[in-house]
Amino acid sequence: EGPMSVQELASLVRRSEAEIIKILFFKGIAATINQTLEVETIELVAKELGITVETAQHKAEATKVTEMLESSDLDHLQRRPPVVTIMGHVDHGKTSLLDAIRNTKVAQGEAGGITQHIGAYHVDVEYNGEKHQVVFLDTPGHEAFTAMRARGARVTDIAVLVVAADDGVQPQTIEAISHAKAAKVPIIVAINKIDKESAQPERVKQELTEYGLVPEEWGGDTIMVPVSALQQQNLDTLLEMILLVAEVEDLYANPDRPAKGTVIEAHLDRARGPVATLLVQNGTLRVGDILVAGACFGKVRAMIDDRGQRVEAATPSFAVEVLGLADVPAAGDEFEVLSDEKAARALAEERAAAQRQSRLAQAAAARRVSLTSLS
Ligand code: GTP
Ligand code: MG
Repeated sequence: EGPMSVQELASLVRRSEAEIIKILFFKGIAATINQTLEVETIELVAKELGITVETAQHKAEATKVTEMLESSDLDHLQRRPPVVTIMGHVDHGKTSLLDAIRNTKVAQGEAGGITQHIGAYHVDVEYNGEKHQVVFLDTPGHEAFTAMRARGARVTDIAVLVVAADDGVQPQTIEAISHAKAAKVPIIVAINKIDKESAQPERVKQELTEYGLVPEEWGGDTIMVPVSALQQQNLDTLLEMILLVAEVEDLYANPDRPAKGTVIEAHLDRARGPVATLLVQNGTLRVGDILVAGACFGKVRAMIDDRGQRVEAATPSFAVEVLGLADVPAAGDEFEVLSDEKAARALAEERAAAQRQSRLAQAAAARRVSLTSLS
């Protein structure tokens, strides 16, 4: 985990303290039994002993939003829910699957359950006798992946690839696979429409093997779940599989710090002004926070969750609609909370200026090109 004493390290690796001190000595480090060793030093010793240590650093490296974590977060890491994107070919049932999961899990039991579209929503799932949550990004999979990847943003932990059992692998199925693979996002396949007479789930599996997705029952490592969005079949299994994959994915964040994350979508609302859906990837976002999203400055005036409820705080992996930005940021922009309003304004202004500059440069380059072609 974190730093520990020579004594603690010795008992952990089942070596004598003298041995540890000796190793350190040969590394040029004079240590005493009660001395606290930093993680790097512990790693040096472990390497010498041929042991790999599971440090908080490793946890951070394993997490999918490493760029969102800082070394100061390492001692405060807590598990966070997985963020899942549903992808697949046109008409294979992405929206139906989302709706089905949402209807059974979200609207159920909510008085007047008006579900607001905020581009992301969360569902509660019972798993291993515990309550877990899964956050779904309700964006057209490919565009979101492409736009965000182009900006270097990583928001998805798991991709659910929907393939219709009566239609099989199609061009956008292949595209989705390559997007997910490029982003190193684990894929769970949902073979949909199994209620149909013409469904051939085994053929779908066969076809997928050609793209490197081999089902577990055939000795591969891809989880494939036959489902019917229409008849709400096997959705619980799909959700359980998502949690299973999430468990091995080591998804951590530090809720005890100012928030940072990514803009999922944003628009200008006539009545409410700029409205942005922000996915919190680290820290906790609160009403009253001062933030910079891309080149936009703002102060969180109100936050609304996917059930249309006002919330005071949003913890890691949760997405909320945020009111209070002075401008409309772009999807894929990163946001962060700053403590100093002046600094935040200055940062936003600086970024806006940089954006104007690059637009001007692009326009100038375009003019040069057209002049060249004229001459
Ligand atoms: P795009 O957003 O256009 O790419 O489509 P989509 O992937 O979101 O598919 P959508 O959910 O709109 O479903 C397409 C059609 O398939 C609709 O007519 C659905 O009713 C139907 N459909 C979806 N899931 C199932 C299913 O499990 N069984 C059957 N029989 N039909 C389904
Ligand atoms: Mg759809």
